[in-house]
Amino acid sequence: YGDFNQKIDYVFKVVLIGDSAVGKTQLLARFARNEFSVDSKATIGVEFQTKTLVIDNKTVKAQIWDTAGQERYRAVTSAYYRGAVGAMLVYDMTKRQSFDHMARWLEELRGHADKNIVIMLIGNKCDLGTLRAVPTEDAQEFAQRENLFFMETSALEATNVETAFLTILTEIY
Ligand code: GTP
Repeated sequence: YGDFNQKIDYVFKVVLIGDSAVGKTQLLARFARNEFSVDSKATIGVEFQTKTLVIDNKTVKAQIWDTAGQERYRAVTSAYYRGAVGAMLVYDMTKRQSFDHMARWLEELRGHADKNIVIMLIGNKCDLGTLRAVPTEDAQEFAQRENLFFMETSALEATNVETAFLTILTEIY
């Protein structure tokens, strides 16, 4: 198997945003390579990975962009959002502050991205359930109010990661 002679029907750009250390890079590593790293370093600038999948008999190349949550490492914002058709707004469910910042991230996203962009709110690190600081209902309510899809994931245990990406890609398609 492989990309040999493979005809790509669509290329979809999806961006990951959210505070530093919520797990954006590891969600991408889990989705693109089925990998996870415990000592993940803070992202500097912008990185992206691609994964090709078949949706409805069409070959879709997902191009997932990951940037730094830390302000000082962030690259030019408008370039990051340009052409994005999907976005994942990620918080750490054990860090209330990362959820409280979602409104700010959403504002930046809506200020720069296409108005038809498909957005999913992601509560990551659900493997740390005992340390939960954000009730599912709070996130559901926010998602409903802002018209976002919502899912709780664990990049560590691979819970809902594939489902989250597939949902957003199918919705874009
Ligand atoms: P920036 O690059 O600074 O924006 O951070 P980031 O959002 O990309 O976070 P990153 O993926 O680097 O993960 C930060 C830390 O959280 C690392 O120590 C990861 O191993 C850990 N982590 C990521 N996802 C999970 C998860 O689902 N569960 C647990 N328990 N830890 C996770």
